[in-house]
Amino acid sequence: MRVVVGITGASGIIYAIRLLEELESRGIELFIIISDRARYIMDLECKDKKKVISRFAKRIHDNNDFSSPLASGSFRIDSMVIVPCSLKTLSAVANGYVDTLISRCAINCLKEGRKLILVIREMPLDLQTLRNMVKAREAGAVVMPAMPAFYHNPKTLDDIIDFVVGKILDQLGIDHELFRRWGE
Ligand SMILES: Cc1cc2nc3c(=O)[nH]c(=O)nc-3n(C[C@H](O)[C@H](O)[C@H](O)COP(=O)(O)O)c2cc1C
Repeated sequence: MRVVVGITGASGIIYAIRLLEELESRGIELFIIISDRARYIMDLECKDKKKVISRFAKRIHDNNDFSSPLASGSFRIDSMVIVPCSLKTLSAVANGYVDTLISRCAINCLKEGRKLILVIREMPLDLQTLRNMVKAREAGAVVMPAMPAFYHNPKTLDDIIDFVVGKILDQLGIDHELFRRWGE
């Protein structure tokens, strides 16, 4: 299975790091694109950023490199997750505006009928963003704001993070035990 993980400049970079760890541990072929602003926020939010970046270095594609295989719909991937997904990148995807490799790859997913998951992080939501979410959904994307639940009785921050990551894995069709499901 080939999965592209796009990391954009919203708060919640930790969701991307946990997702990468889970995907890597399952031997999934990973392709990673990190926006400039995401790198900046990673510095603020994740102290071990350098370790993470160097661990996945070989899989990272330049967000400005339109000659990357990921820029072409002919390059076969199964799914793309943009996590966290900034409202700016949501807008690009919803409106077909290709300004980065992340938005190009996302729009390729839509045109090729591949799974595209947008994990938005913002609150409250302005009307234009709500409209962009509807547009993205209508175009075929899965729009899943990072909204942890509490019915599984999380005890730690990791439990809360893992709930969101588990919901992303559910969308990718990947088994996991990151949180206790209701009724199980
Ligand atoms: C510290 C910091 C936190 C931010 N958090 C968010 C956020 O949670 N959601 C969001 O949509 N934008 C957020 N932004 C703004 C985006 O980074 C900005 O819109 C940027 O242009 C996104 O570009 P990108 O999608 O190419 O990464 C944040 C910016 C900074 C500096």
